[in-house]
Amino acid sequence: MTRCMVPGSFDPITIGHMDIITRAARLYDEVVVTVMHNAEKRTMLSMEERRALIERAAEGLANVRVDAFSGLLVDYARASGIYVVVKGLRRAVDFEYEYQLAAVNRHLEPAIETVLLMTDTRYNYLSSTLVRDLAMHGGDITGLVPDCIKDTVQKRLAGGNS
Ligand code: PNS
Repeated sequence: MTRCMVPGSFDPITIGHMDIITRAARLYDEVVVTVMHNAEKRTMLSMEERRALIERAAEGLANVRVDAFSGLLVDYARASGIYVVVKGLRRAVDFEYEYQLAAVNRHLEPAIETVLLMTDTRYNYLSSTLVRDLAMHGGDITGLVPDCIKDTVQKRLAGGNS
């Protein structure tokens, strides 16, 4: 059985992420979406909130499950036995970042392979940061996050961290 993880901070999950997860689910028998900490980002949603939102968004995808892990990606890979990391690549600027992550992960654990899927051009501009910013200022996030979590995200992020 082929397995991969789709790690990320998902603060919150967007339809761009969902596109990558759906496509990974066609390529691999099992996909584990893993919510992790990114040391460079301060998140607004807790790990459990992010995980719950993804679980709802991925309900219809039979071979996708969701997990959360607060340590190093390589430790998660070793503990779960999943050594293929799938991430989305939007533009050239993403490449530098993803290249660095992939390289450090392979330095720590040579068995890890990173597979980068090109983002659908429809979602090239989309990011969790953009969704958070819009939602915090009362902007409409319809079409940017999965419909089934839209109201929850909109309410939760409206007015900042409360
Ligand atoms: O969605 P993101 O923020 O681009 O995902 C980045 C993430 C969370 C996958 C990355 O920061 C990560 O692997 N975090 C876990 C901690 C870790 O292993 N860091 C070492 C790589 S520098």
